[in-house]
Amino acid sequence: MNSSNATPARDDDAAPAGAFPEGWYFVSALASLRRQRLIEKVWLGQEIVAWCDDEGTVCVAEAYCAHLGSHLGPGVGGRVRQGCLVCPFHGFEYDVTGQCVATPGAAPPTNARLKVFETQEIAGMLFAWWSPVGRSPQWRLPELEQDGWGGVGFRAFRLRSHPEYMAENAVDVNHLSHLHGYHETHPVGRVAVDGAHLRSAFDFKRRGRVAGLWAVETSVSAVVNLYGLGYSFVNIHERTIDVHARFWVLTTPVDVTRTDLLLACQLRPLARPKRAVLGLRFLPVGLRTRLYTQFLLNGQARDVRQDLPIWSHRRYTPRPKLNRLDGEIMVFRRYCRQFYPGDADTAAREPPGRQSGRSVMA
Ligand code: FES
Ligand SMILES: [Fe+2]
Repeated sequence: MNSSNATPARDDDAAPAGAFPEGWYFVSALASLRRQRLIEKVWLGQEIVAWCDDEGTVCVAEAYCAHLGSHLGPGVGGRVRQGCLVCPFHGFEYDVTGQCVATPGAAPPTNARLKVFETQEIAGMLFAWWSPVGRSPQWRLPELEQDGWGGVGFRAFRLRSHPEYMAENAVDVNHLSHLHGYHETHPVGRVAVDGAHLRSAFDFKRRGRVAGLWAVETSVSAVVNLYGLGYSFVNIHERTIDVHARFWVLTTPVDVTRTDLLLACQLRPLARPKRAVLGLRFLPVGLRTRLYTQFLLNGQARDVRQDLPIWSHRRYTPRPKLNRLDGEIMVFRRYCRQFYPGDADTAAREPPGRQSGRSVMA
């Protein structure tokens, strides 16, 4: 297929940005940003840069200079000097508020500013707010205590899909057994929606191997918390070994067809695992915890690889024909509507970004 078959933003083929749900989206791991000082990326269809000053204050901004439009990314020659982003073209300097604070040989124009995005930092990850209609943040991501939690591990994927498809898994408990081979899968309570927060809980059992060696059957309780369609935070309690874990499923559109999917995971240190062989008791707690973090990420990555072809080739069904066990799917669909504020009349229409009858596969 060629890219002309890619899903357009909406029926009238409006600006591509219209396809993206409003919300908070991942930009970078803070450790990586601090190490690199300045990064550039394509994020929700636009070029952005992110940098931090010497105090660790971060800025996420559009990547184009207010002077004569040079790209400010490191690939073009942008750099950070004394906390300011310096344009490679004529040397205009921007502080972390986006304000131009110096230009070589003359006073900076007071109206020279970069368009900046609101940011939030959660568990060492940087997020920025995106709105298709230019609204300020409509909700905040909940802060998470880091004391008593291990380091965050990551797995990254890029696929052709839309964040809504991936977020829908939060309520699609049915597919866990059929596609992923979980068993004794069942929802716990009803899906609850409170503004931008959707909560869905379920239990299941699954099999896997720690460090490729120890066969494990895990018995898991999961509570999924969506805060928009780009940020899914899952509390996991694995009861066989007694592991408490946090998972994030972070989806960030690159453009109208491609989406970055980042899995992140952290554990409470495995001080006293219930089962000796699975807890790898001869290892130090830190190493044991890292191994088990990798085990959980491996399991999640395996699930994602099973989900990938579905997500990439799925088409949007505005009126799905559901069975009795699918009841909560429509709760999710109604929840999603708030994230397309430019489409106020969409009560009976499909969300933008997908047209029924079209594949998302380019
Ligand atoms: S274009 Fe950036 S300083 Fe001139
Ligand atoms: Fe899945």
